[in-house]
Amino acid sequence: MKVLLLTGLGALLFAYYWNDNFDPASLQGARVLLTGASAGVGEELAYHYARLGSHLVLTAHTEALLQKVVGNCRKLGAPKVFYIAADMASPEVPGRVVQFALDMLGGLDYLVLNHLGATPSGTRARSAQATHWLVQVNFLSYVQLTSLALPSLTDNKGSLVVVSSLLGPVPASFSRPYSAAKFALDGFFISLRRELDVQDVNVAVTVCVLGLRDRASAAEGVRGVTRAREAPGPKAALAVIRGGATRAPGVFYPRRLHLLCLLRGWLPHPRAWFIRQELNVTAAAAA
Ligand SMILES: NC(=O)c1ccc[n+]([C@@H]2O[C@H](COP(=O)([O-])OP(=O)(O)OC[C@H]3O[C@@H](n4cnc5c(N)ncnc54)[C@H](OP(=O)(O)O)[C@@H]3O)[C@@H](O)[C@H]2O)c1
Repeated sequence: MKVLLLTGLGALLFAYYWNDNFDPASLQGARVLLTGASAGVGEELAYHYARLGSHLVLTAHTEALLQKVVGNCRKLGAPKVFYIAADMASPEVPGRVVQFALDMLGGLDYLVLNHLGATPSGTRARSAQATHWLVQVNFLSYVQLTSLALPSLTDNKGSLVVVSSLLGPVPASFSRPYSAAKFALDGFFISLRRELDVQDVNVAVTVCVLGLRDRASAAEGVRGVTRAREAPGPKAALAVIRGGATRAPGVFYPRRLHLLCLLRGWLPHPRAWFIRQELNVTAAAAA
């Protein structure tokens, strides 16, 4: 009996985590609007989509970086790649970006929301003004892009893919503005998924929880502050793409983050002692 139970549990876990029915051919010709495509996770997402033959509109803040990524996507075989440089700190910009994508691609199958306004360093990072700016770039622009793209995604039974972080579902010390925006994304998109579901609207919403990546700037930002381990960037981007293509509600990369998120529900108030084991508190407070 015990063996049967364990085998059944193992099969369930296998089905949940590994058997995601990902069909790379499903992305060939798919029309994708990708934000934050000039660097980091977004750049890697762009290269994966390009290899898979998707039609792309890429956006980010810096035009020169976008042009480089567009050139690389073409070399990797993307049949159509367009770009639009845009600053998501301006409330009128998301509308322009979605309209450009609809004009260039004739509709959307995927909206991949990934851009991230950098948190300034020092105490300024925790000021109300900095938080206001970060919430516009890292949350409100996501909401605007979504509402403008939703009619086309609905027509095409498309997908919304949201790149978030462990600091969305699990708050950490010394990351208030970043965590606040990521928590808001979690609440907004999970609620939206439920609304679409009860209205029988066939648009998938995939929220991706990523841990610290192996990018130099990410590692530099937390050097001496946390003992968190880094994970490979291209694999993180591929996990996001697989999750979106299979219409999974959630992606956790690395997978152990799922356990941390579950623990957060069971142990909502970790002791300060426990947090200090992970953090160099003096360095974090000064950062
Ligand atoms: N890196 C990590 O370790 C890590 C860990 C967990 C989750 N994540 C998540 O992964 C996503 C990407 O993070 P990342 O580390 O790859 O970021 P990144 O390397 O700093 O890249 C951020 C992207 O967002 C764009 N961007 C920044 N400010 C913008 C603005 N005002 N308007 C429009 N675009 C803007 C940047 O464009 P420009 O370069 O042109 O400014 C760039 O393309 C984020 O949602 C983040 O929360 C990252």
